[in-house]
Amino acid sequence: MCGFFAPFLLWYYCRMKKLIIGNWKMYPVELKEARERFTQIKKTASVLRNVQTVICPPLVYAGDLKKMVAGHRVTLGAQNAWLEQEGAYTGEVSPSQIRSVGLTHVIIGHSERRVLGETDEMINKKILAGIKAGLVVVLCVGERERDKDGEYLRYVASQIKLALKNVQKKELSNMVIAYEPIWAIGKNALRAASSEDALEIAILIKKTLADMYNRDGSHVPILYGGSVNEKNTKDFLTASRIDGLLVGRASLDPFVFGEILRGAEKVK
Ligand code: PGA
Repeated sequence: MCGFFAPFLLWYYCRMKKLIIGNWKMYPVELKEARERFTQIKKTASVLRNVQTVICPPLVYAGDLKKMVAGHRVTLGAQNAWLEQEGAYTGEVSPSQIRSVGLTHVIIGHSERRVLGETDEMINKKILAGIKAGLVVVLCVGERERDKDGEYLRYVASQIKLALKNVQKKELSNMVIAYEPIWAIGKNALRAASSEDALEIAILIKKTLADMYNRDGSHVPILYGGSVNEKNTKDFLTASRIDGLLVGRASLDPFVFGEILRGAEKVK
């Protein structure tokens, strides 16, 4: 009886946790520094019961950092993956390869990749490939700017619909959606979104998923990303319907990221 329910209990337990993902982008410059930062983050994250931490380092460091991972509270992810599992694609890395070295997550459709020419069609294929390889796919969506007529709402909804084409209901357990408004990302950001901005889009995402998948869509975790720091963590996580955070700059500072993780741990 207990064995039968174990997978459901594990699923339920993970669902209750806040998901905090650190996107290290193309930092730091040396492996030694990556190891040091990861060691410190791991120390904080591995004692937190209510937070699932995922660090997405430059992929070239992942194999090395993976050797330092113990247990499930801190895992590693990739910042991108190609849309096929193997082939003559010089310089690309496939989702199966990423999975085979023990990474658990992959970020797909980050705005810094879309700006390099990644289309909605490619993002859709990358999502399907990521799911097939057994990764949890973190789809990034978000508008460049806001307008008074609500065009940005239609834009974000259409990004989701195009990205999830042919993704089946049963595959939604491998999906996470991160709302990252482009105007709130990086050092040139205007500001972080407010928790109300994030809540508005979280509701839009839920509605879009409900239109596509009925009730099955309601289990997909929703993250917020863009100028997250230790001061605004609580606000975002208490705005209902936000299940976690995608953190850029602040995830590179083990002290600040540690504060974010501890802040998330306290949110019920
Ligand atoms: P930021 O980046 O936290 O540095 O704004 C977020 C992201 O790009 O995922």
